[in-house]
Amino acid sequence: MAQLFTRDTQAIFWNNNTTAIQRMLDYDYTIKRDKPSVAAIVAPTSSGKFEKFFYGPDEIMIPTFKTTAEAKEAQPQADVLLNFASFRTAYDVTMEALEIGGFSTIMITAEGIPERLARKMNATARASGVVVIGPATVGGIAPGAFKIANVGGTITNIVNSKLHRAGSCGLVTRSGGLFNELSNIISINADGIAEGVAIGGDRFVGSVFIDNLLRMESNPQVKYMLLLGEVGGIEEYKVIDAIKEGKITKPVIAWCIGTIAKYYDSGVQFGHAGASANAERETAEAKNRAMSEAGIYVPESFNDLPNKIKEVYESLNLAPIAEPEMNVVPTVRRSKQFICTISDDRGDEATYAGFPISSVALPSTGKGIGDVIALLWFKKQYPKWATDFIETVLKTVADHGPAVSGAHNAKVTARAGKSVVESLVTGLLTIGPRFGGAIDGAAQYFKYADDNGLSPKEFLAYMKNEGIPIPGIGHRIKSLKNPDLRVKGLMEYAAEYFPSTPLLDYARTVEALTTSKKENLILNVDGTIGILMVDMWRALGYAEEDIDEFISSGTLNAFFIVGRSIGFIGHILDEKRLEMPMYRHPMDDILYDVQMAQEI
Ligand code: ACO
Ligand code: LMR
Repeated sequence: MAQLFTRDTQAIFWNNNTTAIQRMLDYDYTIKRDKPSVAAIVAPTSSGKFEKFFYGPDEIMIPTFKTTAEAKEAQPQADVLLNFASFRTAYDVTMEALEIGGFSTIMITAEGIPERLARKMNATARASGVVVIGPATVGGIAPGAFKIANVGGTITNIVNSKLHRAGSCGLVTRSGGLFNELSNIISINADGIAEGVAIGGDRFVGSVFIDNLLRMESNPQVKYMLLLGEVGGIEEYKVIDAIKEGKITKPVIAWCIGTIAKYYDSGVQFGHAGASANAERETAEAKNRAMSEAGIYVPESFNDLPNKIKEVYESLNLAPIAEPEMNVVPTVRRSKQFICTISDDRGDEATYAGFPISSVALPSTGKGIGDVIALLWFKKQYPKWATDFIETVLKTVADHGPAVSGAHNAKVTARAGKSVVESLVTGLLTIGPRFGGAIDGAAQYFKYADDNGLSPKEFLAYMKNEGIPIPGIGHRIKSLKNPDLRVKGLMEYAAEYFPSTPLLDYARTVEALTTSKKENLILNVDGTIGILMVDMWRALGYAEEDIDEFISSGTLNAFFIVGRSIGFIGHILDEKRLEMPMYRHPMDDILYDVQMAQEI
């Protein structure tokens, strides 16, 4: 891997750290990336499905997931994990990601992961060829391509430090703070950086100086490298060896901070856990000396580093870098109150899930109302057998005569002089667990019983225990003797066109048991629709969670609501055309059982 990140690199951000993510997206917008650098967020405790962020003046939604595995499955192209978990969780998150696989780089921000665990984690990553940046780091950047979280600070600072486009220097530091400082120094004294990594301040970090410098050696964008080491450890000696062995040929500038350590007693630790010299070789002075002897450009002091950078950069005579055009992130942005993911009316022609209305509405398209429902309710095109099934359901439930609860209500309301919409609403409000609205319940309970391998007997016992009649079973007038031909029709359609109907097959075994107790306890029209819709969605390849969500959000009852509205409106118009007077229920049809005042 010559380049750590490109303009196509996408990350999974572990932890819903909205400020850091927004910074990444502002950077993306500034450098005109095609797609956001964060593809998914892992937010274990959040119940939301997405988080809104600004992308320039607009807003975008980034999906959130409870686990890394789910995020990776949904966004397999995202091969960088930005592990922003706390030091208590960071190890587990990294190990799990290594287990899942498909990550090329994992950046760990937490400081203070127990050293034993850090060593194990780093070794596992190394064995699987995964670059670990950190722990205890702000991360890194490939200017003009991909920036991790807070590296470089604000957009103004980023542009001032020329971190918005690739320069020529490969920068490796331990410290994040000094990384930003050096980016600025390099932008003033040279043409900016091509790639930069702050490897982290803990004693045991994943990728070390030499790993990063060797990669930069093979990155053609990097023309020279700058290494900022510090007192403690012997990693700088590996760089010296690589230069001696000819593995590093590009000019290297280096400085080890912590030369002041000699004025203290031995063992003083400077900031980072790793910044403590335990032997003469580990002192900053010894390392600076050795690096200088190996031909590395080592300044006299840290103060002299800018001059050294200028000197090396100028000696390379590099062509000046063209400044790219940038987007400007607006300073005032307003968050949108509503989100719409199903249709769009902003263009010349409004669309249903991206399809212009004319492409589904006109007869020449061959599309029906089933296709419109598939697009507007499920944001997908369904195959013909499925859209035909949806239409068969709507046509089947459009009406069942004037006597049923909902139609009766709508008729009474129309006769009270109310409008079509008012009368329709009263009819619709009747739809519920007993009348027409048992479809979701049927899907839910039969699916539960089948998923859990309950025998019909066990299912009946389970429902008895729940204290509710089985949704989808039973009818006031339909029975074994007077079968519901609507049910027969739907079942015949499914037998002919569905690839398979496992849930219906199970429901029929339940029906055999309930009708053996009472002959009107048939699988009714609500039950048949709910159960066949589950079979349809399974055949269409939906995940069980998606189907469960359709059920819990009331999608299935919605088929009855749409279909039966047709019938209700018919009854309402019927009443109006007939100019029927207000309805009063005959008193002799009411059993009055009211106590006399004196009895009370
Ligand atoms: N599951 C188990 N037992 C039932 C069910 C059921 N779904 N429905 C009725 N029973 C039992 C009752 O417990 C009662 O038992 P019992 O005689 O031992 O006391 C017996 O059957 C008769 O009960 P009723 O309430 O008198 O039955 P009724 O014929 O009046 O009810 C109804 C019909 C309301 C549809 C009922 O079967 C029910 O609630 N079903 C579930 C809801 C449902 O599916 N509704 C949609 C119907 S289709 C449509 O509206 C388009
Ligand atoms: C309907 O479709 O309205 C019926 O199944 C309910 C009924 O009472 O007939």
